[in-house]
Amino acid sequence: MIITCGKCKTKYRVDDNAIPKDEFKVRCTKCSHGFLVKKPSSTSEVPPYIKRKAETVATKYKDNPNCKVITICNQKGGVAKTTTCLNLATSLAQMNKRVLVVDFDIQSNLTLLLGHKDARSFFDVVDSESNELTKFIIKTKHNLSLLPSNSKMALLSKTHMGQDNFEYMLRDKLLQVKQDYDYILIDTPPSGDFYTLNALLASTSAIIPAPCEYLSMNGINHIEGMIKVIQNKINHFIDMFVLITKLDKNNTVSQVVLEKIKYKYGSKVLHTMINYDQKIQESEIVQTPAIIYDSESQAARQYQQLAKEVNDKLFPAELNEKTGSYL
Ligand SMILES: Nc1ncnc2c1ncn2[C@@H]1O[C@H](COP(=O)(O)OP(=O)(O)O)[C@@H](O)[C@H]1O
Ligand SMILES: [Mg+2]
Repeated sequence: MIITCGKCKTKYRVDDNAIPKDEFKVRCTKCSHGFLVKKPSSTSEVPPYIKRKAETVATKYKDNPNCKVITICNQKGGVAKTTTCLNLATSLAQMNKRVLVVDFDIQSNLTLLLGHKDARSFFDVVDSESNELTKFIIKTKHNLSLLPSNSKMALLSKTHMGQDNFEYMLRDKLLQVKQDYDYILIDTPPSGDFYTLNALLASTSAIIPAPCEYLSMNGINHIEGMIKVIQNKINHFIDMFVLITKLDKNNTVSQVVLEKIKYKYGSKVLHTMINYDQKIQESEIVQTPAIIYDSESQAARQYQQLAKEVNDKLFPAELNEKTGSYL
């Protein structure tokens, strides 16, 4: 369930299974305000439409709320979506997390950077008779699992758009494997269409990479709008984070845009920022994540720091156990 601090309005996601009783006291870690929260009945937050869908899949596969599904998205291209997906996933795997990366972009850049070509994609999953997702997941380099993309992915929207439940295709398939992973990261195309919608509806968080360029705000606004519609119309809550990428601290335009983004998105802007680092471009030539290509590079340190920040944010229960100040 989502708890909102009555004073500073900070939102917390709390695993329903970790809630001890029907009424419980919490303290906001941000403003120290203490307040009483009532646990909702299991159905009160879920509209009938969603509940019916949840039941359809829940009969066969058990959901794993401890598996965090994150969409990396921005309708703009070249903002470091794929770079972030690859390096964040590899950093999380280095922290001994079980990580699946899903290449949901027709361009297949993530698949290529992990050294695969012409592998079977999500299109092949839905086109197959068995429909078993595990058969299509590749154990790949750097302790990662990969659900690849291929050129057939372009057909997915053409063949399934508008069909019953088309927007839940990815969510329902991922449910088959959520018990096997701590993190599922989804790389998306530079658009806000069928693919990004499917990814967002399968996710509980979204990271929006944004370089400090003038048009970046537009890309963030677009995804934020989409997330709000998803929340308001179908009651699916998505934690949204903005990740500053390709930051050049000596560039005055960068500085101005950075301040604007921080002003508008406040606490949604991740603390960790990724500086412009040529090592990232070099690492692509040898199809190796930057954090492995040069583990001493600035990009490597920053992506590892990002993994820690994301992990702390998405597992607040762990954080609370340590601080003892919440729940
Ligand atoms: N921090 C960075 N510093 C320098 N170049 C970067 C950085 N992050 C990404 N790039 C480069 O920017 C280009 C686009 O990155 P990519 O991850 O493919 O973006 P997207 O998936 O959003 O289209 C790539 O050539 C990549 O090497
Ligand atoms: Mg990409």
